[in-house]
Amino acid sequence: MKRIFSGIQPTGNLHLGNYLGAIRNWVRLQGEFECIYCVVDLHAITMPQKPEDLRRHTREATASLLAAGIDAKTHILFNQSQVSAHAEMAWIFNCVARLGWLNRMTQFKDKAGKNRDSASAGLYVYPNLMAADILTYKATHVPVGDDQKQHLELTREIAGSFNSAYGVEHFPMVEPLIFGEATRVMSLRDGSKKMSKSDASDYSRINLTDSADDIAQKIRKARTDPEPLPDTIAALEARPEADNLMGIFAALSDLSREAAMQRFAGKQFSSFKEELAALAIDSLAPITSEMRRLMADPGHVDAVLRDGAARADAIARPILRQTQDIVGFLRP
Ligand code: AMP
Ligand code: TRP
Repeated sequence: MKRIFSGIQPTGNLHLGNYLGAIRNWVRLQGEFECIYCVVDLHAITMPQKPEDLRRHTREATASLLAAGIDAKTHILFNQSQVSAHAEMAWIFNCVARLGWLNRMTQFKDKAGKNRDSASAGLYVYPNLMAADILTYKATHVPVGDDQKQHLELTREIAGSFNSAYGVEHFPMVEPLIFGEATRVMSLRDGSKKMSKSDASDYSRINLTDSADDIAQKIRKARTDPEPLPDTIAALEARPEADNLMGIFAALSDLSREAAMQRFAGKQFSSFKEELAALAIDSLAPITSEMRRLMADPGHVDAVLRDGAARADAIARPILRQTQDIVGFLRP
């Protein structure tokens, strides 16, 4: 059986990178797989969050997913803290994962920064919780952006290590699904940094809540270079900002990067940016307006999450129980 699990953090500012790297792929996979999508609030508090912001961002992330086309009736959409199996499984994995494995994680190094001693212990064991999210459902496929690849390798390592330590074939080997022409969308201000929710400059990203004017403005101001657009992939790849914008264009128009590039080869950035802005606005406007409509009805959003959590719990609980039996925990 094929089962999808993926998660997104409710830390505000959902952006075009989240959309093209993850959310849009989640929507498309609904036709083929049983899908479980999670707003990962336990992950969010690995960095400080104001309670009011966390509540609002959890609803906002849920509204964006619904607005983008996640079908919460056929599939499952919920927030992580409502299903306690995640935290219980994560403890078991804290005792499976080795410090050496966690020490290799680049996301921890990036997020902890220079002052590592003051990072939370949660931030350090975050990948174990992510493995728990996935394996508590025995999910087989995980659609994510490129930045999560290393965490999925760790998930496989944890599953394999658990299976061999206890001599069982309990957890499956998960397959990452990283696809499309925009698996790593970069900042509009700096082609060497990924587009991120936490970048201090709002001009670095296109938020799913941005107006058409904001989007046009941000794309017009996006950093580029003075040369006309290239006509070979090698030349494109040597120019990170051009490459990033071309990747976004390709993804939004469902073209290959090669085809998108040929369309603009030899042209100036100004005309390319105009087309890109129009395309981005067309693609995002319906999502933004549906999201606003949903945010006006938090009661509905909360009900979706509650219903999703109950159905998620029904899958997770028996798998947690089996795992606890394997480990040797006594229960009545
Ligand atoms: P996060 O915002 O860290 O919770 O990420 C949620 C999902 O969006 C994950 O699958 C990430 O890999 C994906 N994602 C986040 N930032 C980007 C980006 N700049 N480009 C592509 N995918 C991204
Ligand atoms: N760590 C992921 C991120 O920051 C979010 C996440 C948490 C996730 N649990 C997951 C993604 C399980 C896929 C599967 O983007």
